[in-house]
Amino acid sequence: MSWDLKEAIEYYRRQGAPGDQNALRNLLAEIQQESGGAIPKHLLGAVAAGLGTKESFLNALIRRFPSLRLADHHVLEVCAGPNCSRRGELARLAEQYRGRVEVKLVPCMRQCGKGPNLRLDGKLYNAADGQLLARLMDELDK
Ligand code: FES
Repeated sequence: MSWDLKEAIEYYRRQGAPGDQNALRNLLAEIQQESGGAIPKHLLGAVAAGLGTKESFLNALIRRFPSLRLADHHVLEVCAGPNCSRRGELARLAEQYRGRVEVKLVPCMRQCGKGPNLRLDGKLYNAADGQLLARLMDELDK
């Protein structure tokens, strides 16, 4: 049988969630595991409704536990140093993903010879272009 969010909510509700924060944390950890390593933000509404609590409370709990991670908070850093940003193309392309990810223009990443450079969630990518950016954004959805 495949995993079912409603059943999981019901199971952890019977375990005491949301009053019992351990049960609530376990539910969120299970959702994270079933979702490939991060909690999809759009599921928080269903969890909150199913447990009779607020989404803001769930967000606060997720922030408190470093092992829990919201899927939609990805940080895309684009090198704005003189070599990488010469044509400004990467920064312009990155702007179209603002909102979906946090876009930051950052100073030289000290990899000038391999640029243009960007970092997604801390991972460095050299020779970045629009194609790489599109592929990385597609992979965030999986
Ligand atoms: S200018 Fe981008 S790494 Fe130096």
